[in-house]
Amino acid sequence: MDYKSRIEALRKELHEHNYNYYVLNQPTISDYEFDMMMRELQDLEAEHPEMADPNSPTQRVGSDLNQQFRQVAHKYPMLSLANTYNEAEVADFYRRVKEGLEGEPFEIVAEMKYDGLSISLTYIDGQLTQAVTRGDGEKGDDVTSNVRTIRSIPLQLKPGSGYPHEFEIRGEILMPWTSFEQLNREREQREEPLFANPRNAASGTLKSQKSELVASRRLDAYLYYLLLPEGATTDNQPAQMDLFADSQPATLTVESHYEGLQMARGWGFKISEGMKKCTTLQEIIDFIHYWDTERKNLPVATDGIVLKVNSLRQQRHLGFTAKSPRWAIAYKFKAERACTRLNEVTYQVGRTGAITPVANMDPVQLAGTTVRRASLHNADIIRQLDLHLGDMVYVEKGGEIIPKVVGVDLTQRKPDAQPIEFIKTCPECGAQLVRYEGEAAHYCPNDTGCPPQIKGKIEHFISRKAMNIDSLGPETVDDFYQRHLINNIADLYNLTVMQVSGGNKNRAVSATKAVEAIKASKEVPFERVVFAIGIRFVGEVAAKQLARHFKNIDALAAATHEQLLEIDGIGDVIAQSVIDYFANPANREIIEQLKQQGLTMQISDEQMAGQTDLLAGQTIVISGVFQKHSRDEYKQLIEQHGGKNSGSISAKTSFILAGENMGPAKLEKAQKLGIKIMNENEFLQIIGE
Ligand code: IVH
Repeated sequence: MDYKSRIEALRKELHEHNYNYYVLNQPTISDYEFDMMMRELQDLEAEHPEMADPNSPTQRVGSDLNQQFRQVAHKYPMLSLANTYNEAEVADFYRRVKEGLEGEPFEIVAEMKYDGLSISLTYIDGQLTQAVTRGDGEKGDDVTSNVRTIRSIPLQLKPGSGYPHEFEIRGEILMPWTSFEQLNREREQREEPLFANPRNAASGTLKSQKSELVASRRLDAYLYYLLLPEGATTDNQPAQMDLFADSQPATLTVESHYEGLQMARGWGFKISEGMKKCTTLQEIIDFIHYWDTERKNLPVATDGIVLKVNSLRQQRHLGFTAKSPRWAIAYKFKAERACTRLNEVTYQVGRTGAITPVANMDPVQLAGTTVRRASLHNADIIRQLDLHLGDMVYVEKGGEIIPKVVGVDLTQRKPDAQPIEFIKTCPECGAQLVRYEGEAAHYCPNDTGCPPQIKGKIEHFISRKAMNIDSLGPETVDDFYQRHLINNIADLYNLTVMQVSGGNKNRAVSATKAVEAIKASKEVPFERVVFAIGIRFVGEVAAKQLARHFKNIDALAAATHEQLLEIDGIGDVIAQSVIDYFANPANREIIEQLKQQGLTMQISDEQMAGQTDLLAGQTIVISGVFQKHSRDEYKQLIEQHGGKNSGSISAKTSFILAGENMGPAKLEKAQKLGIKIMNENEFLQIIGE
């Protein structure tokens, strides 16, 4: 056999074994045999690089290359589901559907609500071509190379199984309980922060820049929503169907959600096992009761049941509200509760100086994990709970990330128990804590001298949307800080290769890279510098506005409250925060040093050149996919011409710049409010392009 046929044969066989193992949980060969075949394929691919294929089973191992995620617009927006928390609300949903369908008989499919992160997969001619996260529902991150490492997601659909030429399928990426617990055990040993739950762990993993790490974390995926364009065709139907087919591609007709997913299972996807078609409300309620306890035996986290009208025609008839489909609903299981002893309250200092009290308790089993610590949020909550040391407390884990203390069993309180007193000084630096008006949290005000705040500011400074110094990360910042190399953001620019490597030859390469990357950040545009210096409440958008308005750092530093308020979108809180920042001599000193180091402290000539007021005073919403510019470019054009870009439609919206596939919810809202919808050509004409 020639190497080409051998490579193809191995790929085909390995795809099948992957499927048997990860989707069906029924391996038909030993791990050893599998490894041997994989190794042979790896060797052949290495010898014949021209045969490379991103969907080869060898790609499951990922790579350690750094990747930036590209943002991709969803063809159809990824909506969420309306939530219900009790059976009466489920009955309401049932009634609404019945009324909406005017007495027509209907089926409801009940299925598990998986608690991971949603993903949208695109397949063209049986090959996985794209995997995008939900993002903001309109656009998400392209995480294809990470998703390729998830073994229950087919890279190649089963040949001849009848899949359509092109389609999208959505589902949930999850970290199974066993992988999650193992991961946390390892992190505990390495003294790394633990993941609060499998969802966070899965999400942190999928956003990792290294697909090799993703591969090692053993994620899983269940698919629950097939999106077939009308008139979808297939020409790879199973052999027996082929007998009567001519060479024309056959149209695929799928009439129901359930049927669609059964077909998708046949193409190789892992579909929820517990799906059930219900025709009465009682059947739905029985399903909920059954899974409320039975779900604890599932290998992955679930947080409810999803109910969907089965017929696609009926789904279309019921349609969508602004946020979610009218044909589906999520029933959320009640949070699980446990009772345990409170031993101590400790306090964490966040990056902004916010103090979070934490309850340290006797370990207790809760919703699949062992809980020792729970958030107490702030001083008010402690007072409301009237917490005493040694109290038996109720802990709950809702959809929230961290378990929380929700009550006290007063009958078990010892007569001499001491009430918890909130601390007065910062546990990290000893500064007197303050409480800002209208804010629940206490803060450590020593933002230039308190270690977690110093490190937090530097981490923010180097982050992707700020100075984007990606060869540094939280660990390196911590390391430099511990070694007294840096104490503020300006110190970064004085670092030498020798200091960074600590004279260690093995570290010379990475140290040189880090110092180069820091130097390169001097070219980052002014508006991002304004964001990066970390003025409280000044996010990306406000930073841009400040930069464009004042044009250079000296003018910004000298701005008065009134001048700041003149800018669209800048209110009292931000204005005061800007004033406070520049009033602080430590900050002025840092800015002075950054200036001397040659960071970009004014907006560029090009930015100045293209500025007009053609869209002044207009608030514009962008929706859909465009031909001539990307969404980001349109955002920039709007700002460049004095307009404001906004994410959601309201009465204040001046017009909508709409591309193809504008979200149905947005369309409905725009029509309701009578807001003008403009296509990209019309828009470009206005701004004279
Ligand atoms: S259907 C238009 N089915 O829950 C409806 N979603 O709040 C699309 N989820 O973002 C979603 N299990 O991440 C659907 N069986 C299931 C689900 C499910 C979990 C998640 C999904 C979605 C969120 C909705």
